[in-house]
Amino acid sequence: MSAAVDITIRRPDDWHVHLRDGDILKAVLPYTAAQFGRAVVMPNLKPPVTTIAQAASYRSRIQAAIPAGLRFEPLMTCYLTDATDPAEIARGFSEQVWVAAKLYPAGATTNSHFGVTDISRIYPVLETMQRIGMPLLVHGEVTDREVDIFDREQVFIDLILSRLLRDFPELKVVLEHITTAQAVDFVSQASGRLAATITPHHLMINRSSIFEGGVRPHLYCLPVAKREHHRLALRLAATSGAPRFFLGTDTAPHLAHTKEAACGCAGIFNAPTAMQSYAQVFHEEGALDRLEAFASLNGPRFYGLPANADRLRLRLQPKSSETLPDLAVGDDRIAVFASEMATSWQIETLAV
Ligand code: DOR
Ligand code: ZN
Repeated sequence: MSAAVDITIRRPDDWHVHLRDGDILKAVLPYTAAQFGRAVVMPNLKPPVTTIAQAASYRSRIQAAIPAGLRFEPLMTCYLTDATDPAEIARGFSEQVWVAAKLYPAGATTNSHFGVTDISRIYPVLETMQRIGMPLLVHGEVTDREVDIFDREQVFIDLILSRLLRDFPELKVVLEHITTAQAVDFVSQASGRLAATITPHHLMINRSSIFEGGVRPHLYCLPVAKREHHRLALRLAATSGAPRFFLGTDTAPHLAHTKEAACGCAGIFNAPTAMQSYAQVFHEEGALDRLEAFASLNGPRFYGLPANADRLRLRLQPKSSETLPDLAVGDDRIAVFASEMATSWQIETLAV
């Protein structure tokens, strides 16, 4: 690895983050805000963010936690339930409280039990979203326990997503955190209103990594990492520069005691090393010239927003054995994904 790499790109955005609330929000937000100009904030709090009032108040708590001197804009989302009111969705969008709505199939992942039990139940909401041009963000996994956990994304695409795209031909949809070659192919072949986000961890680990030398709870997330050939397909898609693949870290902090447990929760906290990890992947693929498209241009274009004006400089450091320690939160901690990345790439935000 050469130490001569030094690139400057438009400041990136993170189109999929979990910031949580309270002490965890205060502990994790500085990392996202240091790298990204904007972030699409997931609504799976306890209780979930289902109303305009809840989203506006959550946005204020996030804004209050932004460290002084950092420019960062949280873009809020609405958590869809069987009872979501189309009028509330439309009003929150026109008042610019939220930019999108999130579909969690009920039971698919962390705090999704208030999610949608049957896609037909939200058809009136989807009709409204289609009409007003509001994107639907999808956790693309079926929840049927009969379906093998490694097949749940593909079955979702075959049974639910295909139907949804057929019934709503103009609806903008983001298939979040894709993990399979089938998802890559499906998005590549679909029309321009379907896009996908890709996480750093799904570009770096495969399903064997989760069991390397023993169970590694900090590599467990949903959708779970798949076989190596899927990881390679994701790397090709991300580094291709194709406009409908863009950055979404799915950084999902959990306190260590809830992950290092008999039944550990799903989620990987990657915010402190996100851009370093993406840069490393693009560097390994010889595609650093396409990092800006993936990280900073494709997302805003899909959402109909301008790219950020400021810039981020990334410099490859000589290899160091230092790693980032876990993040302390109260008397617990949050483990950082790919902590060795924190010292291989140095990051600097440049004003316009
Ligand atoms: O691994 C995950 N963690 N996947 C999700 O979809 C949700 C997330 C979380 O909120 O922890
Ligand atoms: Zn997520």
